Amino acid sequence: MSTPLSINGPRLVQDLTDLGAIGPAEAGGLSRTSFSAADREARAWYLARVAEAGLSAEVDGIGNIVVTSPHYPADIAALPAVWSGSHIDTVPSGGRFDGALGSIAALEVLRTIHESGVALARPVKAVVYTDEEGNYARLFGSSGLVRGYTREDYEGMVGRDGDRFLDTFADWGGDLDAALRTRIDPASVHATVELHIEQGPVLEQHGEQIGIVTGIVGLGGGEIVFHGQADHAGTTPMRMRKDALVAASGFLTRIPEIAATGGDHAVLTSGIISVAPGSRNVVPGTASLTLDYRDLDPANLVALGDAITAAAQEAAAAAGIEAEVHLRATIAPAPLDEGVQGVIARSAGQRGFATRRMPSGAGHDSQNMATIAPTGMIFVPSIGGRSHCPEEDTAWQDVENGANVLLDTVIELASS
Ligand code: GLV
Ligand code: MN
Ligand code: MN
Repeated sequence: MSTPLSINGPRLVQDLTDLGAIGPAEAGGLSRTSFSAADREARAWYLARVAEAGLSAEVDGIGNIVVTSPHYPADIAALPAVWSGSHIDTVPSGGRFDGALGSIAALEVLRTIHESGVALARPVKAVVYTDEEGNYARLFGSSGLVRGYTREDYEGMVGRDGDRFLDTFADWGGDLDAALRTRIDPASVHATVELHIEQGPVLEQHGEQIGIVTGIVGLGGGEIVFHGQADHAGTTPMRMRKDALVAASGFLTRIPEIAATGGDHAVLTSGIISVAPGSRNVVPGTASLTLDYRDLDPANLVALGDAITAAAQEAAAAAGIEAEVHLRATIAPAPLDEGVQGVIARSAGQRGFATRRMPSGAGHDSQNMATIAPTGMIFVPSIGGRSHCPEEDTAWQDVENGANVLLDTVIELASS
């Protein structure tokens, strides 16, 4: 049997190390939140790697980057392509592998294909999706590719730091007309596959090298605003207060109970709490909580939304105040393609890796892409299961293993 084609491990490690140095956060880890100076620097760095490799990139109206080889024969280049990629934005104080791994590994796969001259039946494209971490909208870039956005959608988007998307976008040099035309023709995508760190402890605990993702949880989100009354913190007797934060805390302590109304994998998080007017000596007049809830079953997402609404109203009533609950449209759970799962399993098996089929509790752009093309995801172990934190880490051997399974998978998908 001939030795299989393999990616260039040292080059992949160097690129991940270099990208991992862009956007260090004061609090530790990386803060490359979408459209920030660090994110812009990372994009420029990525485009320089593309040019250096003799590849070419197109950037769409909201910054999604799609890389191709200019050397595909014209008849091949016109065919529906195999897409692979991930994201290079991070959460605030995030790690250096979430998104970066799948983005750089896809570029490395394309470089390997390009350099080896392997003949494929259809083109392979490496992609970097914009704002996967949802600064402005859930899975912002891939949602723009598969569903598109209206002017009103863009007008309503506000970032974590309270900035209006349209202001940040204009500062970035974005063109709103181009941003209104981001949808791709689903027929132009043959299949997609994304390599990602697991972001949980399962593969490490079982000593397995490769996870084959069976499906990705659906995502719900929104906000609760408790409307109390701002008053003097020294003179307002406890029995006369309408403290919005006390009401909000009544909701927060019920989070585990609310999540239990979903399925086995259901989770509910309130990651940002804002209090106004926000003064040591003023009773909180309003308290706003963000919501992030997930489940593998669409019916459970509905049940979770109902349980959240009921608990918020009860917490507000107990404090004698009102609560407004805004739940956004959910992103549906996405079962991943069984054919692509089979290709990943074959590749991992041929390379002698132990595998596990598993769902993903994290959201990924692949769940949007799965609505237009057969899609798969490959996981590699996360040390200690840590992610979305500075300690996020993966062994270099696992990085290389995952990239080689990605290479084989992409080649097989692009061979027919
Ligand atoms: C993205 O990492 C998400 O799961 O929210
Ligand atoms: Mn990610
Ligand atoms: Mn993430």
